[in-house]
Amino acid sequence: MIKAAYEKFLLPKLLDTCCSTKPIQYQRKKIVPQAKGTVLEIGVGSGLNIPFYEKKDIHKIYGLDPSEELCEMARKTAENNQLKIDFLINGAEEIELPSNSIDTVLITYTLCTIPNPNDALKEIKRVMRSDARILFCEHGTAPDKNIVKWQNRINPLWGKLFGGCNINRDIPNILVSAGFKIKNLDQMYLPSTPKIVGYNYWGNAST
Ligand SMILES: C[S@@+](CC[C@H](N)C(=O)[O-])C[C@H]1O[C@@H](n2cnc3c(N)ncnc32)[C@H](O)[C@@H]1O
Repeated sequence: MIKAAYEKFLLPKLLDTCCSTKPIQYQRKKIVPQAKGTVLEIGVGSGLNIPFYEKKDIHKIYGLDPSEELCEMARKTAENNQLKIDFLINGAEEIELPSNSIDTVLITYTLCTIPNPNDALKEIKRVMRSDARILFCEHGTAPDKNIVKWQNRINPLWGKLFGGCNINRDIPNILVSAGFKIKNLDQMYLPSTPKIVGYNYWGNAST
């Protein structure tokens, strides 16, 4: 009961605040404008990527997220930005779209939270056209042993507070294990961000 109330009323605002720091907004600017054609945003959340879409390159956007509350926040942001988005209120493990229908999959700060990313990536692959790309930007496991030690220690509690978010996932390995080819990969600690949550991986991958 308390958990349900927390997830409905507090968590959406908490995620929106934590995911809109200046360094994270700067990361979005590097990735989101590359989206083209028919776009599927996985874990659209409160819609923090919406202002960064390059409208002239977009044919259609689907925003998928299992949280009705977050989709409602994203809907308002889309309206304010005059961007039409079709919302799919569901997890990425089951995407109600035809196979081979998507040109760009955008996924930011969400592979950390999807309970079984391999299942989700299989389904994502199904809806991607043969020449489609995944644009990703995620936080994950750090390159320093001492930071990883703390990531592993804090992860169970972190997940409880932040809707199932994991701070220690190996993002490139998750993509490659699911059969994606990483074409571009950048990584660094974000400035002004605690190192346990600040190591970012971003780039693009194809099937
Ligand atoms: C940290 S938030 C990031 C939101 C947004 N992508 C951003 O960049 O601000 C993680 C998001 O993953 C979503 N999520 C959780 N489980 C999911 C699943 N199985 N499939 C897709 N999204 C999921 C959550 O509802 C939440 O919106």
